[in-house]
Amino acid sequence: MDRAEILRWLREEDEKRLGHLWQLADETRARYVGHAVYLRGLIEFSNYCARLCHYCGIRADHRDIHRYRMTADEVVASAREAADLGYGTVVLQSGEDFGITREWMRDLIRRIKNEVGVAITLSLGERSTEDLKTWRQAGADRYLLRFETSNHELYNRIHPPITGGKSERFGILENLRTLGYEVGSGILIGIPGQSYDDLTRDIEKLVELDLDMIGCGPFIAHPDTPLGKDQKRWRLPDGVQVPNTEIMTYKVVALARLVRPNANIPSTTALATLNKTNGRELGLMRGANILMPNVTPDQYRVCYEIYPSKACLRDSRAPGANTIRSRLDAIGRTIGTGRGDSINYATRAGAPARQSR
Ligand code: 5AD
Repeated sequence: MDRAEILRWLREEDEKRLGHLWQLADETRARYVGHAVYLRGLIEFSNYCARLCHYCGIRADHRDIHRYRMTADEVVASAREAADLGYGTVVLQSGEDFGITREWMRDLIRRIKNEVGVAITLSLGERSTEDLKTWRQAGADRYLLRFETSNHELYNRIHPPITGGKSERFGILENLRTLGYEVGSGILIGIPGQSYDDLTRDIEKLVELDLDMIGCGPFIAHPDTPLGKDQKRWRLPDGVQVPNTEIMTYKVVALARLVRPNANIPSTTALATLNKTNGRELGLMRGANILMPNVTPDQYRVCYEIYPSKACLRDSRAPGANTIRSRLDAIGRTIGTGRGDSINYATRAGAPARQSR
Protein backbone atom coordinates (compact mmCIF):
# COMPACT_ATOMS: atom_id res chain seq x y z
CA MET A 1 0.00 0.00 0.00
CA ASP A 2 1.57 3.29 -1.00
CA ARG A 3 1.41 6.65 0.72
CA ALA A 4 -1.35 7.97 -1.52
CA GLU A 5 -3.57 4.99 -0.81
CA ILE A 6 -3.06 5.23 2.96
CA LEU A 7 -3.93 8.91 2.83
CA ARG A 8 -7.00 8.22 0.73
CA TRP A 9 -8.31 5.73 3.29
CA LEU A 10 -7.63 8.13 6.16
CA ARG A 11 -9.70 10.77 4.38
CA GLU A 12 -12.44 8.38 3.22
CA GLU A 13 -15.88 9.22 4.53
CA ASP A 14 -18.15 7.15 2.32
CA GLU A 15 -19.67 4.47 4.54
CA LYS A 16 -19.89 1.89 1.83
CA ARG A 17 -16.26 2.23 0.88
CA LEU A 18 -15.27 2.20 4.53
CA GLY A 19 -17.24 -1.03 4.84
CA HIS A 20 -14.88 -2.43 2.28
CA LEU A 21 -11.88 -1.36 4.37
CA TRP A 22 -13.32 -3.05 7.48
CA GLN A 23 -13.93 -6.20 5.49
CA LEU A 24 -10.43 -6.26 4.03
CA ALA A 25 -8.92 -5.78 7.49
CA ASP A 26 -11.13 -8.47 9.01
CA GLU A 27 -10.32 -10.98 6.28
CA THR A 28 -6.61 -10.24 6.61
CA ARG A 29 -6.80 -10.67 10.37
CA ALA A 30 -8.60 -14.02 9.97
CA ARG A 31 -6.16 -15.31 7.36
CA TYR A 32 -2.95 -14.33 9.16
CA VAL A 33 -3.67 -14.55 12.89
CA GLY A 34 -6.93 -16.52 13.05
CA HIS A 35 -10.03 -16.20 15.19
CA ALA A 36 -8.48 -16.45 18.64
CA VAL A 37 -8.42 -13.27 20.71
CA TYR A 38 -5.56 -13.28 23.21
CA LEU A 39 -6.10 -11.68 26.60
CA ARG A 40 -3.36 -9.74 28.36
CA GLY A 41 -3.86 -8.89 32.01
CA LEU A 42 -2.84 -5.27 32.46
CA ILE A 43 -1.26 -4.40 35.82
CA GLU A 44 -0.70 -0.66 36.27
CA PHE A 45 1.68 -1.05 39.15
CA SER A 46 3.01 2.50 39.62
CA ASN A 47 1.68 5.90 38.60
CA TYR A 48 4.79 7.84 39.59
CA CYS A 49 6.19 9.53 36.53
CA ALA A 50 9.21 11.74 35.93
CA ARG A 51 7.96 13.04 32.58
CA LEU A 52 5.78 15.93 31.52
CA CYS A 53 4.06 14.56 28.41
CA HIS A 54 1.52 17.17 27.39
CA TYR A 55 -1.37 14.74 26.97
CA CYS A 56 -0.97 12.50 29.96
CA GLY A 57 -2.84 12.71 33.28
CA ILE A 58 -0.07 11.07 35.34
CA ARG A 59 2.56 13.61 34.23
CA ALA A 60 4.99 14.63 36.97
CA ASP A 61 3.49 18.00 37.78
CA HIS A 62 -0.09 16.80 38.18
CA ARG A 63 -0.42 17.31 41.92
CA ASP A 64 -4.04 16.35 42.20
CA ILE A 65 -3.57 12.60 42.07
CA HIS A 66 -2.61 10.11 44.70
CA ARG A 67 0.67 8.47 43.73
CA TYR A 68 1.15 4.76 44.42
CA ARG A 69 3.64 2.03 43.78
CA MET A 70 2.41 -1.52 44.35
CA THR A 71 4.61 -3.86 46.35
CA ALA A 72 6.20 -6.84 44.62
CA ASP A 73 3.86 -9.14 46.54
CA GLU A 74 0.85 -7.20 45.28
CA VAL A 75 2.06 -7.35 41.67
CA VAL A 76 2.68 -11.09 41.91
CA ALA A 77 -0.81 -11.56 43.39
CA SER A 78 -2.36 -9.63 40.48
CA ALA A 79 -0.35 -11.69 38.00
CA ARG A 80 -1.59 -14.86 39.64
CA GLU A 81 -5.13 -13.59 39.41
CA ALA A 82 -4.66 -12.96 35.68
CA ALA A 83 -3.25 -16.47 35.23
CA ASP A 84 -6.21 -17.92 37.15
CA LEU A 85 -8.53 -16.11 34.75
CA GLY A 86 -6.76 -17.95 31.94
CA TYR A 87 -4.64 -15.07 30.63
CA GLY A 88 -1.31 -16.19 29.15
CA THR A 89 0.39 -12.80 29.49
CA VAL A 90 0.63 -10.01 32.00
CA VAL A 91 1.52 -6.47 30.99
CA LEU A 92 3.44 -4.62 33.69
CA GLN A 93 2.86 -0.93 33.07
CA SER A 94 3.93 2.16 34.99
CA GLY A 95 4.81 5.78 34.59
CA GLU A 96 8.45 6.55 33.96
CA ASP A 97 9.28 5.82 37.56
CA PHE A 98 12.92 5.76 38.54
CA GLY A 99 11.88 4.54 41.97
CA ILE A 100 11.51 1.27 40.08
CA THR A 101 15.13 0.20 40.12
CA ARG A 102 16.78 -2.20 37.73
CA GLU A 103 17.23 -4.77 40.50
CA TRP A 104 13.73 -4.50 41.95
CA MET A 105 12.24 -5.02 38.51
CA ARG A 106 14.61 -7.89 37.74
CA ASP A 107 13.59 -9.70 40.92
CA LEU A 108 9.91 -9.09 40.20
CA ILE A 109 10.23 -10.52 36.69
CA ARG A 110 12.00 -13.60 38.05
CA ARG A 111 9.32 -14.12 40.68
CA ILE A 112 6.46 -13.88 38.18
CA LYS A 113 8.26 -16.29 35.86
CA ASN A 114 8.93 -18.79 38.66
CA GLU A 115 5.75 -18.48 40.67
CA VAL A 116 3.16 -17.77 37.97
CA GLY A 117 4.74 -18.78 34.67
CA VAL A 118 3.02 -16.35 32.29
CA ALA A 119 4.59 -14.36 29.47
CA ILE A 120 5.66 -10.87 30.60
CA THR A 121 5.25 -7.67 28.65
CA LEU A 122 6.86 -4.52 30.04
CA SER A 123 5.58 -1.00 29.44
CA LEU A 124 7.75 1.24 31.61
CA GLY A 125 8.67 4.07 29.28
CA GLU A 126 12.13 5.12 28.22
CA ARG A 127 14.71 3.14 30.16
CA SER A 128 18.44 2.61 29.75
CA THR A 129 19.88 -0.17 27.61
CA GLU A 130 21.38 -1.71 30.77
CA ASP A 131 17.94 -1.85 32.41
CA LEU A 132 16.35 -3.36 29.31
CA LYS A 133 19.12 -5.93 29.01
CA THR A 134 18.89 -7.01 32.63
CA TRP A 135 15.10 -7.41 32.43
CA ARG A 136 15.31 -9.37 29.21
CA GLN A 137 17.84 -11.71 30.83
CA ALA A 138 15.56 -12.06 33.84
CA GLY A 139 12.83 -13.39 31.54
CA ALA A 140 10.82 -10.44 30.18
CA ASP A 141 9.43 -11.39 26.77
CA ARG A 142 8.01 -8.23 25.25
CA TYR A 143 8.17 -4.45 25.54
CA LEU A 144 5.67 -1.77 24.58
CA LEU A 145 6.76 1.77 23.79
CA ARG A 146 4.60 3.81 21.48
CA PHE A 147 6.40 6.32 19.30
CA GLU A 148 3.10 8.29 19.43
CA THR A 149 3.95 10.41 16.37
CA SER A 150 6.74 10.26 13.78
CA ASN A 151 6.67 14.05 13.37
CA HIS A 152 9.80 15.05 15.31
CA GLU A 153 8.78 18.64 15.80
CA LEU A 154 5.40 17.62 17.24
CA TYR A 155 6.97 14.84 19.29
CA ASN A 156 9.52 17.14 20.87
CA ARG A 157 6.91 19.77 21.61
CA ILE A 158 4.73 17.40 23.64
CA HIS A 159 7.48 15.30 25.27
CA PRO A 160 9.78 17.65 27.13
CA PRO A 161 12.94 15.65 27.84
CA ILE A 162 14.23 15.10 31.33
CA THR A 163 16.89 17.75 31.97
CA GLY A 164 20.08 16.81 30.24
CA GLY A 165 18.45 13.86 28.53
CA LYS A 166 17.08 13.31 25.10
CA SER A 167 13.87 11.57 24.24
CA GLU A 168 14.66 9.12 21.49
CA ARG A 169 12.08 6.39 21.30
CA PHE A 170 13.15 5.08 17.90
CA GLY A 171 16.63 4.38 19.27
CA ILE A 172 15.12 2.50 22.21
CA LEU A 173 12.89 0.48 19.88
CA GLU A 174 16.02 -0.55 18.00
CA ASN A 175 17.71 -1.57 21.27
CA LEU A 176 14.72 -3.66 22.25
CA ARG A 177 14.87 -5.50 18.97
CA THR A 178 18.58 -6.18 19.31
CA LEU A 179 18.02 -7.50 22.83
CA GLY A 180 15.53 -10.04 21.48
CA TYR A 181 12.33 -8.58 22.85
CA GLU A 182 9.09 -8.89 20.98
CA VAL A 183 8.66 -5.22 20.15
CA GLY A 184 5.45 -3.21 20.31
CA SER A 185 4.85 0.40 19.41
CA GLY A 186 2.11 2.54 18.00
CA ILE A 187 0.39 5.82 17.43
CA LEU A 188 -1.61 8.27 19.49
CA ILE A 189 -4.38 9.27 17.09
CA GLY A 190 -5.58 12.86 16.83
CA ILE A 191 -2.97 14.63 18.94
CA PRO A 192 -3.66 18.37 18.58
CA GLY A 193 -1.09 19.37 15.95
CA GLN A 194 -1.08 16.03 14.09
CA SER A 195 -1.83 16.32 10.38
CA TYR A 196 -3.12 13.73 7.92
CA ASP A 197 0.33 13.69 6.33
CA ASP A 198 1.86 12.96 9.73
CA LEU A 199 -0.52 10.09 10.33
CA THR A 200 0.19 8.68 6.89
CA ARG A 201 3.89 8.64 7.72
CA ASP A 202 3.13 7.10 11.11
CA ILE A 203 1.48 4.18 9.35
CA GLU A 204 4.45 3.80 7.02
CA LYS A 205 6.62 3.79 10.12
CA LEU A 206 4.78 0.72 11.43
CA VAL A 207 6.11 -1.14 8.40
CA GLU A 208 9.61 0.29 8.61
CA LEU A 209 9.92 -0.76 12.26
CA ASP A 210 8.70 -4.28 11.43
CA LEU A 211 6.67 -4.25 14.63
CA ASP A 212 5.49 -7.42 16.35
CA MET A 213 2.75 -5.59 18.25
CA ILE A 214 0.90 -2.41 17.29
CA GLY A 215 -1.22 -0.42 19.74
CA CYS A 216 -3.09 2.64 18.48
CA GLY A 217 -5.71 4.61 20.36
CA PRO A 218 -7.40 8.00 20.18
CA PHE A 219 -6.06 11.00 22.10
CA ILE A 220 -8.52 11.75 24.90
CA ALA A 221 -8.26 15.21 26.39
CA HIS A 222 -7.40 15.29 30.09
CA PRO A 223 -8.45 18.63 31.62
CA ASP A 224 -5.39 18.89 33.87
CA THR A 225 -2.84 18.65 31.04
CA PRO A 226 -1.51 21.32 28.65
CA LEU A 227 -3.06 19.67 25.59
CA GLY A 228 -6.34 19.09 27.39
CA LYS A 229 -6.57 22.65 28.68
CA ASP A 230 -5.77 24.38 25.49
CA GLN A 231 -6.62 22.10 22.61
CA LYS A 232 -7.74 24.90 20.33
CA ARG A 233 -4.38 26.56 20.51
CA TRP A 234 -2.59 23.47 19.21
CA ARG A 235 -5.12 22.11 16.74
CA LEU A 236 -4.40 22.52 13.04
CA PRO A 237 -7.10 23.91 10.73
CA ASP A 238 -10.05 21.61 9.98
CA GLY A 239 -9.19 19.32 7.12
CA VAL A 240 -5.54 19.25 8.13
CA GLN A 241 -5.88 18.21 11.79
CA VAL A 242 -6.48 14.48 12.37
CA PRO A 243 -9.70 14.12 14.38
CA ASN A 244 -9.38 12.05 17.59
CA THR A 245 -12.54 10.13 16.79
CA GLU A 246 -13.78 6.59 17.01
CA ILE A 247 -13.98 6.24 13.23
CA MET A 248 -10.43 7.51 12.72
CA THR A 249 -9.25 4.92 15.23
CA TYR A 250 -10.91 2.10 13.27
CA LYS A 251 -9.26 3.35 10.09
CA VAL A 252 -5.83 3.25 11.73
CA VAL A 253 -6.42 -0.20 13.25
CA ALA A 254 -7.61 -1.54 9.88
CA LEU A 255 -4.66 -0.01 8.02
CA ALA A 256 -2.23 -1.32 10.64
CA ARG A 257 -3.59 -4.82 10.01
CA LEU A 258 -3.28 -4.43 6.25
CA VAL A 259 0.32 -3.21 6.36
CA ARG A 260 1.47 -5.60 9.14
CA PRO A 261 -0.76 -8.68 8.73
CA ASN A 262 1.15 -10.87 11.22
CA ALA A 263 1.27 -8.37 14.08
CA ASN A 264 -0.64 -8.63 17.34
CA ILE A 265 -2.98 -5.64 17.45
CA PRO A 266 -5.09 -4.76 20.52
CA SER A 267 -8.49 -3.19 20.54
CA THR A 268 -7.48 -0.52 23.04
CA THR A 269 -9.05 0.80 26.22
CA ALA A 270 -9.01 4.34 24.81
CA LEU A 271 -11.16 3.16 21.90
CA ALA A 272 -13.52 1.42 24.32
CA THR A 273 -13.70 4.70 26.23
CA LEU A 274 -15.05 6.53 23.15
CA ASN A 275 -17.64 3.83 22.54
CA LYS A 276 -18.35 2.00 25.76
CA THR A 277 -21.15 -0.05 24.19
CA ASN A 278 -19.24 -1.93 21.53
CA GLY A 279 -16.00 -0.11 20.69
CA ARG A 280 -13.95 -3.09 21.83
CA GLU A 281 -15.88 -5.47 19.58
CA LEU A 282 -15.75 -3.15 16.58
CA GLY A 283 -11.98 -2.86 16.97
CA LEU A 284 -11.77 -6.66 16.94
CA MET A 285 -13.97 -6.78 13.83
CA ARG A 286 -11.80 -4.26 12.00
CA GLY A 287 -8.33 -5.73 12.39
CA ALA A 288 -7.54 -6.24 16.08
CA ASN A 289 -6.88 -9.62 17.73
CA ILE A 290 -5.88 -8.73 21.30
CA LEU A 291 -7.67 -7.43 24.41
CA MET A 292 -5.95 -6.08 27.50
CA PRO A 293 -8.38 -6.40 30.42
CA ASN A 294 -7.31 -4.44 33.45
CA VAL A 295 -6.39 -6.56 36.48
CA THR A 296 -4.98 -3.74 38.61
CA PRO A 297 -6.47 -3.82 42.13
CA ASP A 298 -9.44 -1.42 42.27
CA GLN A 299 -7.95 0.96 44.82
CA TYR A 300 -4.99 1.66 42.51
CA ARG A 301 -6.78 1.49 39.19
CA VAL A 302 -8.74 4.67 39.87
CA CYS A 303 -5.46 6.56 40.35
CA TYR A 304 -3.99 5.51 37.01
CA GLU A 305 -5.85 8.21 35.17
CA ILE A 306 -3.85 8.89 32.01
CA TYR A 307 -7.13 10.21 30.60
CA PRO A 308 -10.61 10.61 32.16
CA SER A 309 -13.38 7.98 32.32
CA LYS A 310 -11.21 5.07 31.24
CA ALA A 311 -13.45 2.22 30.14
CA CYS A 312 -11.51 -0.29 32.20
CA LEU A 313 -12.82 1.20 35.44
CA ARG A 314 -15.81 -0.99 34.73
CA ASP A 315 -13.85 -4.14 33.83
CA SER A 316 -14.82 -6.89 36.13
CA ARG A 317 -12.19 -9.14 37.54
CA ALA A 318 -14.61 -11.79 38.77
CA PRO A 319 -14.58 -14.75 36.39
CA GLY A 320 -18.29 -15.54 36.79
CA ALA A 321 -19.41 -12.02 36.10
CA ASN A 322 -16.94 -11.64 33.30
CA THR A 323 -18.69 -11.51 29.99
CA ILE A 324 -15.61 -11.48 27.78
CA ARG A 325 -16.22 -15.01 26.56
CA SER A 326 -19.87 -14.45 25.66
CA ARG A 327 -19.11 -11.13 24.00
CA LEU A 328 -16.43 -12.76 21.87
CA ASP A 329 -18.76 -15.64 21.13
CA ALA A 330 -21.29 -13.19 19.75
CA ILE A 331 -18.80 -11.96 17.14
CA GLY A 332 -17.58 -15.42 16.20
CA ARG A 333 -14.30 -15.28 18.07
CA THR A 334 -12.69 -17.50 20.66
CA ILE A 335 -10.36 -16.84 23.59
CA GLY A 336 -6.78 -17.75 22.72
CA THR A 337 -4.98 -20.16 25.01
CA GLY A 338 -1.25 -20.08 25.77
CA ARG A 339 1.10 -17.15 25.40
CA GLY A 340 -0.12 -15.82 22.08
CA ASP A 341 3.29 -14.76 20.83
CA SER A 342 3.38 -12.53 17.77
CA ILE A 343 3.62 -14.46 14.52
CA ASN A 344 5.63 -11.54 13.19
CA TYR A 345 8.25 -12.14 15.88
CA ALA A 346 8.36 -15.87 15.25
CA THR A 347 8.99 -15.40 11.56
CA ARG A 348 11.25 -12.38 11.45
CA ALA A 349 14.89 -12.76 10.69
CA GLY A 350 17.29 -12.93 13.61
CA ALA A 351 14.72 -13.62 16.30
CA PRO A 352 16.31 -15.86 18.91
CA ALA A 353 14.81 -19.28 19.59
CA ARG A 354 11.86 -19.08 21.91
CA GLN A 355 11.36 -20.83 25.21
CA SER A 356 8.58 -23.40 25.01
CA ARG A 357 5.08 -21.96 24.92
N1 5AD B 1 -5.38 9.92 25.68
C1 5AD B 1 -5.15 8.74 25.07
N2 5AD B 1 -4.07 7.99 25.25
C2 5AD B 1 -3.15 8.45 26.12
N3 5AD B 1 -1.97 7.94 26.49
C3 5AD B 1 -1.42 8.77 27.39
N4 5AD B 1 -2.23 9.82 27.61
C4 5AD B 1 -3.31 9.66 26.81
C5 5AD B 1 -4.48 10.41 26.55
N5 5AD B 1 -4.72 11.58 27.16
C6 5AD B 1 -1.38 6.73 25.90
C7 5AD B 1 -0.02 7.03 25.26
C8 5AD B 1 0.92 6.08 25.96
C9 5AD B 1 -0.02 5.02 26.49
C10 5AD B 1 0.50 4.21 27.61
O1 5AD B 1 -1.16 5.74 26.86
O2 5AD B 1 -0.08 6.73 23.87
O3 5AD B 1 1.91 5.54 25.12
